[in-house]
Amino acid sequence: MTASDSTRPRILTGDTPTGRLHLGHYVGSLERRLAMQETHDCYFIVANVHALTTRSDKPDEIRADTLEVMRDWLAVGLDPDRSTLFVQSEIPAIAELTFFFSMLLGFGRVMRNPTIKDEIIVKNLGDTYSFGFLLYAVGQTADILTFRPEAVPVGEDQVAHIEMTREVARRFNQLYCGVSDQTPDDDHLRAGGLFPIPRAEVGRVGRLVGIDGVNKMSKSLGNAIYLSDTAKEVQKKVNRIFTGRQNPTDPGDPNNVLFQYLDAFHADKAMVADLRERYAGGRVGDGEVKKELGSAINALLDPIRQRRARYEGDDQAILEIIRAGCAKANTAAEQTLAAARKAMRMHFGERSLGYR
Ligand code: TRP
Repeated sequence: MTASDSTRPRILTGDTPTGRLHLGHYVGSLERRLAMQETHDCYFIVANVHALTTRSDKPDEIRADTLEVMRDWLAVGLDPDRSTLFVQSEIPAIAELTFFFSMLLGFGRVMRNPTIKDEIIVKNLGDTYSFGFLLYAVGQTADILTFRPEAVPVGEDQVAHIEMTREVARRFNQLYCGVSDQTPDDDHLRAGGLFPIPRAEVGRVGRLVGIDGVNKMSKSLGNAIYLSDTAKEVQKKVNRIFTGRQNPTDPGDPNNVLFQYLDAFHADKAMVADLRERYAGGRVGDGEVKKELGSAINALLDPIRQRRARYEGDDQAILEIIRAGCAKANTAAEQTLAAARKAMRMHFGERSLGYR
């Protein structure tokens, strides 16, 4: 089957390029994408326009980060022959639909979006954030609906955005496609709606704590283990994890960050159960647990390191993959856009993108 085979259910998800991807991205989403690549028609977006919301003064960094995310994706095993890997700024339909969709959401509704409220606090934006920062939440509804997926696999912090996306889709179908407000979500397409009402699908570990043991793993907090870290760097970071335990005979907390990681990354569940029991009983030291954990993470990262070596330092290869993915994405996006413009009575003739 090919990526354009319409018999496979379609999904869309992606990342804002803020730097290299880390283990939080892996368990929150990447791992899921790899599995879905086998069974779904996958669209993966690098949201480089969204990166401008807080870094409009850093265009060079955002471009470099965009290539880096693409490199991380390829290293992990996202496959441009099976999935559509593309970059947001290359898809004009997304920008057009963002404007249309912004009319379907009240201003207060966007401001009440809990992810937006959180980000204003966590990123210390005060009241100086740009208009575009608020608009990005609407933009994300367009990233998704442009490709009409049935599901959006994400971390739990993104669920609020998918909820808004579902509201936009319902509203659009009701206002412009004659779908009744009594129609159940799953019946919108059958009832003549243009957009499916996409589900959020939260991964196995929705939120991975950072090596500080407190906050969510994130680049800005300096508590991340990166997919591109060397084996040595990984073990060093693991060794730095602070558990508060004084000596190996103290009863340890069997749900502390070390064990959250072992649950997430160790393939041998029986081994983890045994370690956990000994840890709680004060029969194993942090050092031994950390060694086991470091090896488990490196076992996961080794094949990723090998695949990355093929693309290291070769921006040209990455650019070619981006261009091919964007051409595929634009074919689907332009179809949705034309149908949306027709439904909205905004359509005055066929036009084509002329994208090369
Ligand atoms: N906002 C998401 C994040 O920062 C990235 C993203 C942009 C996305 N557009 C999307 C995720 C569409 C899923 C679907 O992680």
